[in-house]
Amino acid sequence: MNEVKTEKLGEAWPSVEVRYTHETTQVMAAEVIEKIPPLLTEFRCAYCERVFGSLSELQAHYTSEHPDAVVPRIITLHINSRYCQVLVEPHWTLKRTLQYRLGLTGTKEMCDKGVCGSCTVIMDGRPILSCTTLAVECEGKDIQTIEGIAAELKNKPLIDAYCKWDAMQCGYCTPGFLVTAKALLDKFPEPTEEQIKEALSGNICSCGTYPRHITAIMEASEKMRQGA
Ligand code: FES
Ligand code: FES
Repeated sequence: MNEVKTEKLGEAWPSVEVRYTHETTQVMAAEVIEKIPPLLTEFRCAYCERVFGSLSELQAHYTSEHPDAVVPRIITLHINSRYCQVLVEPHWTLKRTLQYRLGLTGTKEMCDKGVCGSCTVIMDGRPILSCTTLAVECEGKDIQTIEGIAAELKNKPLIDAYCKWDAMQCGYCTPGFLVTAKALLDKFPEPTEEQIKEALSGNICSCGTYPRHITAIMEASEKMRQGA
């Protein structure tokens, strides 16, 4: 069973106790990733829900029954260190594909216009906005989502620091901030306050949690360098 830890917040919130459960999050994230099948075994029509056993059968069905529709295609993505086939329409964004095809719902949508950062994922080491990236552009890229970050034990100090310093209120924007923070720490293991502010400048939090991210990332940086 996962241990639930409780810790006093000390100077910032002396009277508040916070429960943080990175272990639970880690297990849940790993389970979600584990459920993603590597190969497609059924091919469902997006219009009439009929299921076919191969892409060619589905394509023939589109030709005869939905001649004006865009025919889906298969792409192979490398997400959270796993390869998986996905059936997408060419105009689908990576965000939509993650959420609706792969069940990776940790990637959030706030604006869907490329301005809030809540849909951030890491692609080939760089934070990118999945709401403005087409899924078909992502073949051959290495993608990491918030689930992949949460599932890795080495990221425990970052998630623990976010919980300890209460760097979220409603939490909706938090996955985007955490993904951006992870990309920053990969590039700059000992970031300055200015580097953190600059890295997070594309992430918007309606609840106004901004100062707490800096504190959390600074602390996580120190613990990660110590190998905690
Ligand atoms: S949902 Fe992608 S930037 Fe806002
Ligand atoms: S914690 Fe609510 S939007 Fe950021």
